[in-house]
Amino acid sequence: MRVPSYSSSAVDTIPTVAPAAPAPEPRFHQRHVETTDTVRKELLDGLAKEQAHISPKFLYDELGSSLFTAITLLDEYYPTRCENEIFAKHSADIVAHAGPVHTLIDLGAGDCAKAERLLAHVRPAQYVPIDISVDYLKAAVKRIADHYPDLEISALGMDFFNDLSLPAEVHAERRAFFYPGSSIGNLPPEQAADLLANIRRQCADGALIIGVDLVKAREILEPAYDDAVGVTAAFNLNMLRHVNKILGSDFNLAQWQHLACFNEARSRMEMHLRARVATTVRWPGGERSFKEGERIHTEDSYKYRPHAFKAMLSRAGFGQIRYWTDEREWFAVFCARA
Ligand code: TRP
Repeated sequence: MRVPSYSSSAVDTIPTVAPAAPAPEPRFHQRHVETTDTVRKELLDGLAKEQAHISPKFLYDELGSSLFTAITLLDEYYPTRCENEIFAKHSADIVAHAGPVHTLIDLGAGDCAKAERLLAHVRPAQYVPIDISVDYLKAAVKRIADHYPDLEISALGMDFFNDLSLPAEVHAERRAFFYPGSSIGNLPPEQAADLLANIRRQCADGALIIGVDLVKAREILEPAYDDAVGVTAAFNLNMLRHVNKILGSDFNLAQWQHLACFNEARSRMEMHLRARVATTVRWPGGERSFKEGERIHTEDSYKYRPHAFKAMLSRAGFGQIRYWTDEREWFAVFCARA
C-alpha cells in the first residue's frame, strides 16, 4: 500500500487519505433550573434568620462579575496571581502527576481561561466545562472548539455542589477534575469534604487538580478582602442592589458597610455587610429591621494549612497527593490521584 507523502516538493502529494473526522459539535446541557420563586424564597429565608445571611451566589450578577474581575487585578488580592504563577511554572509537573487523562472536567469553568492554559499540557480527548448556567460557557466553548477541532466538548449547566452526577456521554475512564481558584474554601470544611468525596466517587482511575488558599498573616489576608481602592467593598455592597432587583426591596446601600475580618480560630475570612444605622428594609409582602451595627453574613473563605488539606484529600479517598506553591507559599495547587 502506498503511504501518502506530504513532502512539499513532489507533485504527487495530493493526500489519498481523508483527514480524521473532526469531533462532533459541542453539546450543551442545562440541568440546573431555578425559578424566580425558589430564588426569592431562598433570599427571604436568609433575611428572616436571626443572623441574616445572603448566599454568595448573589454576588455575581453582571456588575458583580465585572467587579470580581477587577478584584483579581488589585495589588492586595493575591490568590489569582499566585495561582497563575504556580500554573506558569509547574503545569507540566502537575499534569505529569495526574497521569494520562481522557476527560478533563472543569468545575466552575466560567470563561474556561484557566483550563484553556492547561489543555495544551493535558491533551484530553474530551473537555467538560461545568458552571451553574451553560450560557456562561458558550463563548468560551466556541473559542476552544475552534482551537482544538478534535476535542469533544460537552458543556453542562449544573449545581455541582448539590449533585455531581454526570451524563452518560462523559467518559467514565481517566477523568481529571479541575477545580482552580480556591472556591473549595468558600464551603464549610464538612461540605468541602463531602464535595471531595463526591468527586472521588466520580473518578475511579483519575485525578483531581485543585487550588487552595493557605493560612497566612492577618495583615495579608484582611487587605486582600478589603482593598484600598474600595473595589471589594463595592463588590460586596452590589449584592444588596442585586437583591433589590430580585425582591423589589429597598436596601439603601449608603446605610451599609463592607466588613472583612480573619477569624483565626476557624481559619476563615468572614465577609459581612454591617448596618451603619438602625434601618428597616421593606419589600412587597415583608420587612426586616436591623439595629445599628447588625450584620448580614455574605461569604466565608476558609484558609488551609497544606497538611490539613492533604489529610482532607486522603479522607476523601485520594492517594499520591502532591502540591505546588508560589514562591511565598501563599497559595497551593494540589494534584491527587484517585
Ligand atoms: N471566592 C472569592 C474568595 O473567597 C470571592 C471574594 C473575593 C469575595 N473577595 C470577596 C467574596 C469579598 C465576598 C466578599 O476569594
